[in-house]
Amino acid sequence: MLATATDRISSAVARLGAENAFMVLARARVLEAQGRRIVHMEVGEPDFDTPTHIKDAAIAALHENYTHYSPSTGINELRDVIAEYVSRFRGITPAYTRDNVTVTPGAKPVIWNIMSAIINPGDHFVYFSPAYPAYASAASYLQADVTAIPLHEAANWRPDLDELDRVVTPKTKAIAINSPHNPTGGILTNSDLERIAEIAIRNDCLVIADEIYSRNFYLSEKFVSIASLPGMRDRTIIVDGFSKAYAMTGWRLGYAVMPEALQNVVTLFNNNTFSCVATFVQRAGIAALTGPDEPVQKMNAIFRERRDRIVSGLNAIPNVSCTLPEGAFYAMPNMTAITHDDKKLASFLLEEAGVACNGGSAFGAAGKGYIRFSYAASLDDIDLALAQIAKHLPHYKD
Ligand SMILES: Cc1ncc(COP(=O)(O)O)c(C=O)c1O
Repeated sequence: MLATATDRISSAVARLGAENAFMVLARARVLEAQGRRIVHMEVGEPDFDTPTHIKDAAIAALHENYTHYSPSTGINELRDVIAEYVSRFRGITPAYTRDNVTVTPGAKPVIWNIMSAIINPGDHFVYFSPAYPAYASAASYLQADVTAIPLHEAANWRPDLDELDRVVTPKTKAIAINSPHNPTGGILTNSDLERIAEIAIRNDCLVIADEIYSRNFYLSEKFVSIASLPGMRDRTIIVDGFSKAYAMTGWRLGYAVMPEALQNVVTLFNNNTFSCVATFVQRAGIAALTGPDEPVQKMNAIFRERRDRIVSGLNAIPNVSCTLPEGAFYAMPNMTAITHDDKKLASFLLEEAGVACNGGSAFGAAGKGYIRFSYAASLDDIDLALAQIAKHLPHYKD
């Protein structure tokens, strides 16, 4: 008998995870094509237009024929600007140089390439759960020995760092942190960062610091990067990008900053996979980081207003409770009084209430019983979603 196409798929594929949000989006689009009104709260995507000066820079770059391959690291002008911005915004000395920077089509591929560059089968890798799914997927594909440490709602979605201390050993290759956090909107406090740094230094392991929401930060104090703490610059890999801060999700532009020797290997993976990022998109990235910062601050102020609206609205719905997120643009209400199956509830909310959202367990076991709403939606849409949820929830059956 001839093998079928399915028979030919590698067994390693079974170890891959996936980002559920894109599947919910696909289903929401089917419902919309049938004429349904859907409020999109499933993907982490600012609904704002990309600021005009950034679009203008891309258009000018096209006319100037920035339409050819670039080096797999990214163009030097952008790498210089990223090195300067990342060092200045985070107060890192000595400042990074272009040799620390690699540019990728979004932050997601650089996570894959970083993990590929550092993980041998059996290497110990630690992250906090629930989490953005890319880390667990890459770690599982690469056959890491993975420990997921739960984040606790009661601690405003912070981890128990005594648990981290017990789990991390000199055999641990890397700890991944993400603050502000997807999917909970939680942040690590400065003392959390100091404790994680102390644990990483004592056990001589790397820290992957996913700081893609560093500009979506609602506390009055300044965002602090773990890379700025003593002894951390040379053991931290910062992941960041343009999607969230500049409303540039569809441009696909991200980067990572790390010790040069690691950068060379991560870039080798760039070389082997996507070769390079579209050159005119990289020119737009220069405009984003060197142009006016007001659009970022304005979007952030609006996100904050939306956060307050959705969190108070969710807390007004019987049997729903939601902590106040301090960053990113996600609210993660506790639905355990309503469901034992958050994915089923998320599907009900999409099909019946027209609110696209994600079951918390799509982000790992510690997300069970929660729903993630991305509040990168207008206040009108948030109000509509809240009204629909309140109306339909009493009819939900587990
Ligand atoms: C924590 C985190 N890291 C990385 C990414 C990747 O973003 P992008 O690939 O659009 O740069 C996301 C997107 O949702 C995210 O939430």
